Amino acid sequence: MFSKKSILIFLFSLLLVNMVSSQIAMINIQSRKQISLNGKWNVIIDPADVGERYQVWKEKKPQKKTDFFEYAFDDGPVLNVPGDFNAQKKELSFFEGTVWYRKKFSYTIGDDKRLFIYFGAVNYKADVYLNGEKLGSHEGGFTPFQFEITDKARSGDNSIVVKVNNVRQKNGLPGFGYDWLNYGGITRDVELVETNETYIKDYSIQLNKGSINDVAGWIQLNGLQLQQKLEIQIPELNIQYKTQSNDKGFAPVNFSGKFKLWSPENPKLYRVIVKSETDAVSEEIGFRCVEVKDGKVFLNRNPVFLKGVSIHEENPNKGARAYSKEDDILLLNAAKALGCNLVRLVHYPHNEYMVREAEKMGLMVWSELPVYQHIDFTDSTVAGKMERMLDEMVGRDKNRCGIIIWSLSNETYPSAPNRTKALTDLTKKCRALDAARLITHVTNSQIYQGNHFKVWDTLYRYSDLVSLNEYIGWYLPWQGKPSDTKWSIAYPDKPVFIAEFGGEALYDSKGPADEAVYWTEAYQAKIYKDQLEMFKTIPNLSGVCPWLLFDYKSTNRLHPVYQKGYNRKGLLSEKGNKKKAWLVMKAYYDKKR
Ligand code: GCU
Repeated sequence: MFSKKSILIFLFSLLLVNMVSSQIAMINIQSRKQISLNGKWNVIIDPADVGERYQVWKEKKPQKKTDFFEYAFDDGPVLNVPGDFNAQKKELSFFEGTVWYRKKFSYTIGDDKRLFIYFGAVNYKADVYLNGEKLGSHEGGFTPFQFEITDKARSGDNSIVVKVNNVRQKNGLPGFGYDWLNYGGITRDVELVETNETYIKDYSIQLNKGSINDVAGWIQLNGLQLQQKLEIQIPELNIQYKTQSNDKGFAPVNFSGKFKLWSPENPKLYRVIVKSETDAVSEEIGFRCVEVKDGKVFLNRNPVFLKGVSIHEENPNKGARAYSKEDDILLLNAAKALGCNLVRLVHYPHNEYMVREAEKMGLMVWSELPVYQHIDFTDSTVAGKMERMLDEMVGRDKNRCGIIIWSLSNETYPSAPNRTKALTDLTKKCRALDAARLITHVTNSQIYQGNHFKVWDTLYRYSDLVSLNEYIGWYLPWQGKPSDTKWSIAYPDKPVFIAEFGGEALYDSKGPADEAVYWTEAYQAKIYKDQLEMFKTIPNLSGVCPWLLFDYKSTNRLHPVYQKGYNRKGLLSEKGNKKKAWLVMKAYYDKKR
């Protein structure tokens, strides 16, 4: 019989496995030895979430005639990975629940090698199993994570099972309410990654805050052989920087160079090679300096006006979560065509291709955490989740010079208990992680009375930009001539960014000729003309960002004629048709220097 002690040890190890969370993913996955697990995965759709009770990850098979199991992956439905499950099956269009995924793979690990399984993203919760054993879990639908399976993978056939659940969580990020379709599934690439025993896990190579020559960064090794000679090479500049990691595998990096600075006009990237004695990775990295001073944003020491547009990570033509380079280039080309120099990727970190392609195209990037409206800041787990998501977002993209702004929240309620403390702490954490980029929070807590805006929020104290959403002309009527608008903005020395404005229009919907009425293109265009008039009255206006580029799917939008499940504030319809307001905005950006 088992002793009390062994039962306790067994129960404790069970608890441990269930609590095991995934690892922060290694950086620059593209430069590693990868084996893609993308493609068709067998699935079990589990609306009542009974799969746990059946322990489907054990993939039990009848051994004798009387055996039967009320689930199986074989002969069942399949889904494509990457890809959300909602757009792949009609019956899953609005599904929020559990789907079990299974992929078999055959692999033999080389000697002195390590093996990882890497997920670009899984929305929302992922429980991951290998050969019937739980590897661990991850929460958060928009950032990468990995598990080390070196000592768990078999030589030969293996089977990975992922329980994916996209049910909204009160203490989730985002929480219950949000204005986009909650695409669930294994939404981004899945890779097997083989490394040497000691590998280059992470590095930061960017210009120091406020500098146009001095790189300040670091390299972090992972493995047993932590003290190694390291080198950073930039062949085009004849840079060969040598250093040495300490007994924790860490090495600070400091060197200077005559860089052609990255900018929208000249999105210059350099091939950068990072070498250790046991590993080497390389990628295209750009160098630029972004700062705020005297109420303006400066890029490479020159004042810049941010000509933005918001983009949801949705391929409008497919009506599905965007995940590929092709999806992203479609969206980014449309932003370029509008005359933008910045894309606000809303309201969550987008896939890595999006950020890398934007950078190549000379588009500055605003990357945002899904700390959106209804967040339960009183829940003790929320601060930890925000920090983890921040680590993952900054962790993946810190070497992307295209990203100039980290946005840490959108429209959270100043009166929500613990909100300001939690977000202030998060801002300090972000500054400690990355002092060289701008940080902001987007609010809509301003007061608009008598055609006068009073803009104030404690979070501005910790932000580099005063970023606000306002929908005058749509949710709120004008209270006077747009050109007579008055502004009282706290922190008058900070640049102001209108992060959202606009209104809805169904493409091609026309009202009476002489009158602009709701839902028509004419009315939307009028909102834009009025807004552009009002922008002339805003002190320190450093950028604007229409809400948004394409009409997109949202379960909040129920009008049977004008919306049909779409937020229609796009300047383009989901088919890419230009609405009248697109022309107004294009003309403004073409003139704006
Ligand atoms: C908000 C919010 C968006 C939303 C938009 C709208 O400001 O940030 O996510 O879609 O308003 O109401 O259309």
